[in-house]
Amino acid sequence: MTTTVRTRVAIVGAGPAGLLLSHLLADAGIDSIILDRRGRDEIESTIRAGILEQETVRVLSETGASDRVLTVGNRHDGIELHFEGEGHRIDFPSLTGRSVWLYPQHEALKDLIAARLAAGQDLRFETEVTGVGDVESDRPWVSATSADGTEVRIEAEFVVGADGSRSVVRPAVTGSSSGGYFREYPFAWFGILCEAPPSSHELIYSNSPDGFALISQRSATVQRMYFQCDPEADPDAVSEAEIWATLQARVPGTALTEGPIFQREVLRFRSFVAHELRHGRAVLVGDAAHTVPPTGAKGMNLAVADVVLLDQALRALLLENDTRLIDAFADTALRRIWKAQHFSWWMTSMLHTASDASAFDQRRQVGELRSVVESEAGRTFLAEAYTGWPHQSSDR
Ligand code: DHB
Repeated sequence: MTTTVRTRVAIVGAGPAGLLLSHLLADAGIDSIILDRRGRDEIESTIRAGILEQETVRVLSETGASDRVLTVGNRHDGIELHFEGEGHRIDFPSLTGRSVWLYPQHEALKDLIAARLAAGQDLRFETEVTGVGDVESDRPWVSATSADGTEVRIEAEFVVGADGSRSVVRPAVTGSSSGGYFREYPFAWFGILCEAPPSSHELIYSNSPDGFALISQRSATVQRMYFQCDPEADPDAVSEAEIWATLQARVPGTALTEGPIFQREVLRFRSFVAHELRHGRAVLVGDAAHTVPPTGAKGMNLAVADVVLLDQALRALLLENDTRLIDAFADTALRRIWKAQHFSWWMTSMLHTASDASAFDQRRQVGELRSVVESEAGRTFLAEAYTGWPHQSSDR
């Protein structure tokens, strides 16, 4: 037995992109259904990055999607780039007039889920999408199976793939599950969470001959730290003493505060942009459309920028039958996406150490880092990208 339900927008994926889109659309009176194959607990507990651009924070707070971002989150006015044993601060407000906020992504997700459920959103967890069709017509649909085995068919006016890097909506848009531009990296991040107060009041991005390290934080009592590792590394094969020795060696001159490590994982990464972001009445947003390496924390911020654009385009289409913004959506979104791809690739390449790097490569890399920190133009370039470019409007 299949139940058929109707809505205006079928959203696949209850991550930041899908949840925020439903929130913004609801404000315009456009109803949606969100499906996610994961359960609520899994979504709310998956550890992701923690840096939000100023515009991301503005959207979350001004629209009522999250009040806690301003009360629980912490504003950061700079970062430190560390190389050759010395730290160099990049001061965001003086260079750009903007700041960033440290607020873990899963906290933003808890706020969004609570806000959507309180507003009566049809939000279906543990529901696996089995098909997407008729996207070239005005009545595209999504079929899915819920946790209890019930088959459901959602008939919509638009389908949105906000379902992450292994998107099941992507084939309906690009014609294949992988269709896109790729770049692989020969390293990964070893990430830990530990019980200890922050080692530094701002984040430290460190380049060292042994590899990259990032000293981040989660709260007054928990730190988030990463160090460059082999993508095949086994996170459980390393002792706590070895983890601390590796981290300490990669930020020489800074005494890290140590404490019990309660979470560890190896994060592989790559760059990806789908060949198409839209086909007929289906679009891709967030990680379904693009993934970036984590250096610079652009992932969630880019998803939010996509959704702000898509919200405007869907309002014009569904409320006024105006197709201009949806027709421009992919080109407009791609401008920011490729800038963020460049920034994430650049931060990654500038700060990590390739295992086959020659003595020339290593010295050139230090020259590059010096060109950034010793020039106001260099620092401004980094700060503008890190704090986030202004959101585009759809007609630009
Ligand atoms: C964090 C992750 C990032 O990739 C980054 O650039 C900054 C912070 C984090 O998890 O805190």
